[in-house]
Amino acid sequence: MSHAEDNEGTRRDFLYYATAGAGAVTAGAAVWPLVNQMNPSADVKALSSILVDISGVEVGTQISVMFLGKPVFIRRRTQAEIDEARAVALADLIDPASENPNKPGTDASDENRTMDEAGEWLVMMGVCTHLGCVPLGDGAGEFNGWFCPCHGSHYDTAGRIRKGPAPQNLHVPVAEFVDETTIKLG
Ligand code: FES
Repeated sequence: MSHAEDNEGTRRDFLYYATAGAGAVTAGAAVWPLVNQMNPSADVKALSSILVDISGVEVGTQISVMFLGKPVFIRRRTQAEIDEARAVALADLIDPASENPNKPGTDASDENRTMDEAGEWLVMMGVCTHLGCVPLGDGAGEFNGWFCPCHGSHYDTAGRIRKGPAPQNLHVPVAEFVDETTIKLG
């Protein structure tokens, strides 16, 4: 095989691929790079988009993956978490915006925060909107969602800021389902 053919054969493998280990709860997911070093645009593409395999994420658990150098939380919510988030009046929210570029200009209703209409999949940057710490998850804080211990910011089960110094809801990254078990970030 010529060198050129060899290069061609791996060109499509420039995306990072991340997956949840069986039984993973909050542990960081395994990520393995498949970057074709020969392709000068590969690094750029690898940085701007990753695929995440969510087939191993059980209801009531989440995984963290690194995207653009920052953690992204992918949580598969329980019905109780969904119900709790949907019962909150908009007037009770500190940040009224969805902070979701996939649904620009929308309010912070739970439905505008999630990937799917049923509200099972919540994808957010794991970056506190106060000064950038990584919040604790799995029902942490006074609103059963995420809690940032740096200065005491409490986020609800939709990742919306409810108490503390953080000014905005946890940001949702650009994301979409590419199939039933794969989310593309970026
Ligand atoms: S960085 Fe999270 S509360 Fe300050």
